[in-house]
Amino acid sequence: MAEKHYNIDYLTETVKILGGVKERSYEYFRSVPDGGTIVDLGCGTGQDVLNMARIFEGSHFNLIGIDHDPNMIKKGHELADTDTGITFLLADVATIPLSDTSANGIRMERLVQHVPNPLGLFTEVYRVLHGDGVVVVVESDWKSLSFYNGDLAVSDKINDYLSAQKVNNGRAAQSLSTYLNTTGFRNIAIAVQPFVLTRYQDACTYLWIDKMIDEMLTLHLIDEKEHKDFIEAQKHADETGYFSCSMNIVTVSAIK
Ligand SMILES: C[S@@+](CC[C@H](N)C(=O)[O-])C[C@H]1O[C@@H](n2cnc3c(N)ncnc32)[C@H](O)[C@@H]1O
Repeated sequence: MAEKHYNIDYLTETVKILGGVKERSYEYFRSVPDGGTIVDLGCGTGQDVLNMARIFEGSHFNLIGIDHDPNMIKKGHELADTDTGITFLLADVATIPLSDTSANGIRMERLVQHVPNPLGLFTEVYRVLHGDGVVVVVESDWKSLSFYNGDLAVSDKINDYLSAQKVNNGRAAQSLSTYLNTTGFRNIAIAVQPFVLTRYQDACTYLWIDKMIDEMLTLHLIDEKEHKDFIEAQKHADETGYFSCSMNIVTVSAIK
């Protein structure tokens, strides 16, 4: 079984390229009334509830971060330190530990791609949201990862590996609107924001390209020659100054 495509350090690093996407995702919660409750499901180390506490300081929101990984929740508590108005809960989002209609806003970033039963999750989100509450879902579209430096065959295999094998629900980004529609949400709107990396090292840091291509070799999804040629092509592009790769980040919002 391949290792997870994230850890605490990875989440800390990716803030550098996802900062803009994150900031825009918070704006959907401007309509939440003062003192309302906003929940971040699959909150990781809690960076988004911390950001929202800062941005919406005057609104006195109750911010709740929920994650099933005790290490993530522990880190969240450390980062939040004395921040008031933030609660972290250790739980599986398959059953959200909150009562019906208790949240005014629910946010999920890079979570849906990991859950085995996405429709069950969206049904839970619907249950917990107050009438007219807003849900915002941010997902990486692994299928859209593109390399512009030759070796398109291996590039295609990377897309297939990520979207069909490595990530549990690797096509989540393209299914979000359908999940929301199926579970009764309305006013479904989509925004797509690409990011572009221009250094090979950045692709290794933010996308773990080097680890992934090694995994694919171990799993016999590519052979030694494809592995070597792909890396050489990327490094050559990098040294010559034309390396680039991009990926779309999809944000879908809806109202209960
Ligand atoms: C890629 S990380 C994203 C973290 C955070 N949303 C962010 O954008 O920084 C995915 C997070 O979802 C959590 N997660 C995955 N499946 C979960 C589940 N069934 N219940 C609760 N949390 C889950 C993981 O522990 C991890 O912290």
